[in-house]
Amino acid sequence: MLHEDIVLLKKAFQSSLAVVKGDALCVCVLKRKFAHSWRVLQNGQAIMKANIPELDTQPVLKKQCEQALLLHDIGRFEETVQAYQDKAMQAWGKKYDHGTLGGLILAQLPAYNDKKVVLAVRHHGHMIEDFYNDPEYLALPDSERKKAEMMVKLVRDSDKLDLYYLQREEDNIESDPFFCSLPEDLKHARISPEVWEQFVAGQTIKHNTIRSLSDRILGCISWQFDFNYALTVKLYHEKGYHDMLLELLSKYCPDKMILEKIK
Ligand SMILES: [Fe+2]
Repeated sequence: MLHEDIVLLKKAFQSSLAVVKGDALCVCVLKRKFAHSWRVLQNGQAIMKANIPELDTQPVLKKQCEQALLLHDIGRFEETVQAYQDKAMQAWGKKYDHGTLGGLILAQLPAYNDKKVVLAVRHHGHMIEDFYNDPEYLALPDSERKKAEMMVKLVRDSDKLDLYYLQREEDNIESDPFFCSLPEDLKHARISPEVWEQFVAGQTIKHNTIRSLSDRILGCISWQFDFNYALTVKLYHEKGYHDMLLELLSKYCPDKMILEKIK
């Protein structure tokens, strides 16, 4: 890990903090994202060690992977500042695309303007098809495309593992903004047919189809269809994230038959 990468992350964090410092919610979001960036790097380093050992002979590529991991949410800091200035924190995570913002920020910095790094940051939270259809990805030579694909998959897995961790430890599904803004009847509603269709087809559930709390929980379970590395699958089960989500679903989903099918 390069000292400069850490400096860049800290700079983005501290300069955003200086703008929003009177707002407790924004400060909390920024601190959470700063800590999350480090844990995503650690997750990625564990996956590289276990599942991508060939990176040991490619130090430049390995360093770029670490940059993409640590800086994948750099757009979150800018996003939070914009939401704060627009008085639109209720739209945080929806109105602004932090992946695209992050890609733009890194593309402007010569030390980070590598297509693979920019693509991995841009698409770490998008549907994977957006990555495969990105003209900048399609314009890469074959060998670079393979590396870009490995890198985006690494960031996506590492990010998801920490999002599960956050759901268990901090950003609990039963107290997060989605839950709080949901009408009571949708907290105990059935899984929407459109969401179930995607799940049985083995697809990651699209955010804009989520209506009920059960849809949202199933959405988190469906992330496993997008896991790319064996260690991710192992940790998802070993750390109890799957059981945590099943337990939540059994608490809120009225359709017990569906629960049996998911297990
Ligand atoms: Fe993230």
